[in-house]
Amino acid sequence: IPELPRHYRGKVRDNYDLADGRRIIIASDRLSAFDRILTAVPHKGAVLTQTARYWFEATRDLCPNHVIDYPDPNVVVAKRLDILPVEVVVRDYLAGTTSTSILSMYKKGERTMYGVTLPDGLRPNQKLPETIITPTSKAFDGGHDEPLTPAEIVERKLLTAAQWEELSAKALALFARGRELAAKRGLILVDTKYEFGLDQDGNIILADEIHTPDSSRYWFAETYPAKFEAGERPESFDKDFVRSWVVARCDPYTDDVPEIPGDVVLQAAAIYIQAYEMITGETYVP
Ligand code: C5P
Repeated sequence: IPELPRHYRGKVRDNYDLADGRRIIIASDRLSAFDRILTAVPHKGAVLTQTARYWFEATRDLCPNHVIDYPDPNVVVAKRLDILPVEVVVRDYLAGTTSTSILSMYKKGERTMYGVTLPDGLRPNQKLPETIITPTSKAFDGGHDEPLTPAEIVERKLLTAAQWEELSAKALALFARGRELAAKRGLILVDTKYEFGLDQDGNIILADEIHTPDSSRYWFAETYPAKFEAGERPESFDKDFVRSWVVARCDPYTDDVPEIPGDVVLQAAAIYIQAYEMITGETYVP
């Protein structure tokens, strides 16, 4: 859209900064994983924007967020923020899909990661003894997100100690709300990632998206216990469907990723829509 100013194209969203401090964020249908764009999934931009809308509204009392308005199903008018350089990942389960996930690290014998020590004897996809935060750096210029400990966050001056305290407390409160509302809909909110920014007055504001199937894992609560006991992958309603298809065929960090076939793309679209409908209780109207 050339007539809009200051265009910044993210992997999934196109951003335009208006002179008055507002940012227009247009969610595309692009699907990104493993730090690259893999394919486009029909309806994804609108479905995810509407899923995040549900959650932004359901958590407004816990943390202010960047939303000003929704002029279109896949468009947010947001407050322009200075995004903080830490991604706050919160987890209730030992889950993961890639070779760098906490599950892979745990299987290799690592017990202390991200400043957190996990007990011996956990099985894949098991519930953790307590909710943990596994922060990473936010790679602004196309690099990989690197694991961080809270001490490193402060030492490297990514955040002040007070900012980290506030971010982690807010993230845990948001996650608790997410867990509670998801459970009412028959879903387990397994893990998720939050991004925060500072507004002009220095307030911490929730940015990006919240509890979407792109930034979270969701498992179907009814079938989880049997799948876990059988050592099978839980039924998930999220981007893991596509991630798993890819990692079954190549190592996406070193190999060329094959083109995602049309039927897999359509199944992904159906999963995103199903997740929206389960989470919000609304029927998706294109
Ligand atoms: O891959 P990993 O297990 O570390 O991801 C944990 C959670 O954080 C998942 O729900 C994933 O979708 C989300 N995440 C994200 N963006 C990233 C890294 C993780 O949304 N850059």
